[in-house]
Amino acid sequence: MKPSLISLSLLTAAHASTASQVPGFDISNWQPTFNFTAAYASGARFCILKATEGSDFLDKSFPSHFSRATAANLIRGAYHFAWPVSDATASQQADFFIAHGGGWTADGRTLPGMLDMESVASKPRCWGLGTGEMVAWIGEFSDRYRERTTRYPMIYTNPSWWKECTGDSAAFRDTNPLVLARWASAVGTIPGGWAAQTIWQNSDSYEFGGDSDFFNGSEEDLKRFAMGS
Ligand SMILES: *[C@@H]1O[C@H](CO)[C@@H](O)[C@H](O)[C@H]1NC(C)=O
Ligand SMILES: *[C@@H]1O[C@H](CO)[C@@H](O)[C@H](O)[C@H]1NC(C)=O
Repeated sequence: MKPSLISLSLLTAAHASTASQVPGFDISNWQPTFNFTAAYASGARFCILKATEGSDFLDKSFPSHFSRATAANLIRGAYHFAWPVSDATASQQADFFIAHGGGWTADGRTLPGMLDMESVASKPRCWGLGTGEMVAWIGEFSDRYRERTTRYPMIYTNPSWWKECTGDSAAFRDTNPLVLARWASAVGTIPGGWAAQTIWQNSDSYEFGGDSDFFNGSEEDLKRFAMGS
């Protein structure tokens, strides 16, 4: 290939990748004083805020995070950290999430809620559930969320957890948007039969605190996704 062609194709590739990814972030009560204005000024256009966990945990920063994200003009959404083994069933956890900020409205500024599927150090790796039980739990949460809000929740996971704890289930590929955690310079292989991630969590270190995310698409695509259209 001639040098001029090489540089042209590199330029095109660089342009395409910046044009088609919108920066954002996710945070929780670990970042109580997050500066939303500064994040917006640096290019962020969306955020995902922790609202609830398990059967009864409320993230104490959520109300202030939500109002400050709104004031900073960010498209925002909430997430629920799942406890698949708990006093509360999957449906009850979906209701709990919706009752505390996790619902969805078609105002163009609200992302569908995100179900955070991972493990905690104090429990067995897959919460002691078999892959079929885990898939059933996620399905129950997802169906309940859809019934209540009309949207399927986004599912947050990382490839190794999804493979080990759901048997790399493809049950959600056509319904639930994927938020893929992979802290690397490239998305890599997508688990669960999804064609692509909707949002990529590319790093657990973001300039202003929290985790760094990229929406896979343009800002117009992001707005359409929020609207559910
Ligand atoms: C947040 O960031 C904005 C824009 O960079 C800056 O003007 C403001 O002082 C910051 N606020 C705080 C509390 O640091
Ligand atoms: C974005 O999604 C498309 C499919 O819709 C996929 O082909 C592409 O690789 C994704 N982009 C990135 C940067 O992951």
